[in-house]
Amino acid sequence: MSTAPTKATNIVWHHGSTTREDRAKTLGQRGVTLWLTGLSGSGKSTVAYALENALVTGGNAAYVLDGDNIRHGLNKDLGFSPADRTENIRRIGEVARLFVDAGHIAITAFISPYRADRDLVRGIHGEGDFVEVHVDAPLDVCESRDVKGLYKKARAGQIPEFTGISAPYEAPLHPELVLPTGAESVDASVGRVLAYLRERGYLGS
Ligand code: ADX
Repeated sequence: MSTAPTKATNIVWHHGSTTREDRAKTLGQRGVTLWLTGLSGSGKSTVAYALENALVTGGNAAYVLDGDNIRHGLNKDLGFSPADRTENIRRIGEVARLFVDAGHIAITAFISPYRADRDLVRGIHGEGDFVEVHVDAPLDVCESRDVKGLYKKARAGQIPEFTGISAPYEAPLHPELVLPTGAESVDASVGRVLAYLRERGYLGS
């Protein structure tokens, strides 16, 4: 469940006259959240940015929300305790939902280690608006890459609650897509997501 207390009272939802269909028609696509989840170093950001580039250069509106980047600004007040991670994911879920309402393709790249948090985000999206993508590289592959040197620090006890080492990662049970990034190229993973989007009509004709 969400950890955010409800303090906003006496507020009324205001509907504009522009519909989601109007926006979809103008943009020539259907908005969707592509929720990438996986261990640190699994390739979430790499795939997310390559995918964004392929979509935008192909004429679609897409935007990456990336864990490390968002934690520099919007979520700079959050750490890595279970409660803070839950709040991190809740906020990004809400932001992604706004992107979808705006007709865009939101590509999120967060570890999002807790199943319940990801399910909560799925729950605030409409049917077909949320696509869970497991960026599935084994821990030993992520650790051997150690792009940011964080696994080494975590093993040395210098980073508490590090996902995969001293904090859990709950793999998705029924993701729409699995990208075996330990075994396939970035291009192959991007191609897999693009095919999924094309086949289901998200990218327009
Ligand atoms: S999440 O668990 O709340 O979804 P998020 O994706 O925003 O995490 O941030 C993960 C990034 O923060 C990692 O890629 C890594 O660079 C950095 N990081 C710093 N401390 C930790 C930690 N204890 N566990 C995992 N990632 C960490």
